[in-house]
Amino acid sequence: MRNDALLVTGTDTGVGKTFVACGLARAWRAAGRDVGVVKPFASGAVRGSHPDVEALIAASGTADPFDEVCPYLFRDPLAPSVAAKRERRAVSVARAARMTQRVIDRHAITIVEGAGGLLVPVTDRETVADYAKRLRLPLLIVARPALGTLNHTRLTVEAARARGLRVLGIVVSFCSPGRAGLAERTNLEVMGRHAGSPVLAALRHRASALEFGRLATRVEALVARIGR
Ligand SMILES: Nc1ncnc2c1ncn2[C@@H]1O[C@H](COP(=O)(O)OP(=O)(O)OP(=O)(O)O)[C@@H](O)[C@H]1O
Ligand SMILES: [Mg+2]
Repeated sequence: MRNDALLVTGTDTGVGKTFVACGLARAWRAAGRDVGVVKPFASGAVRGSHPDVEALIAASGTADPFDEVCPYLFRDPLAPSVAAKRERRAVSVARAARMTQRVIDRHAITIVEGAGGLLVPVTDRETVADYAKRLRLPLLIVARPALGTLNHTRLTVEAARARGLRVLGIVVSFCSPGRAGLAERTNLEVMGRHAGSPVLAALRHRASALEFGRLATRVEALVARIGR
């Protein structure tokens, strides 16, 4: 069995990483794949749990326990390094990577959801990018459609490549309902060219299982081609 894996990162927090990760998990599960999920650093715990982790577990149908899906859960909704300090806890990127690898080894394909964007600090010196680098995870970058996204997306692609990370492509997610305005429509036209990585999908608000099915097929082929 091949043990594929990818990191779903974003240009910012709240851009649709969990939405995209869960949609992919459901699509691969529907296609008969054994799907693993990991949210290595989750901030903003709710009663000892976390909505992203719960959503990822439900979408994938994994039997892995919460603590293995999410090795670092923090109370405050802050960057992991900051939230950890407030609880006087130490984060080890090496440990997070080791635990993630254990999950990856158990499943055909594992979806890892980052915390915030790629350069969010997880320790005083390390970011989500350092964690991704340790595991050689290729990246799927979730971006907003709205004004400002061309800059954020290219910054993310360039920061990833500067660190030796591979980018599978970009997914634009329409978080808000309503018709796409001028900025949204024109951004989509130039996004892939400007950012230097293809737009694999522009997911409409409340994207259908069919849309996710198409995206899942494309992403799976790219992950298999790129390897780790
Ligand atoms: N295409 C979409 N259609 C409908 N709702 C969406 C879409 N994309 C994102 N959303 C919604 O937008 C909100 C933010 O998305 P989400 O929680 O996935 O972001 P995130 O990047 O995972 O945030 P965080 O950094 O907190 O993990 C959620 O309520 C999510 O359901
Ligand atoms: Mg999320």
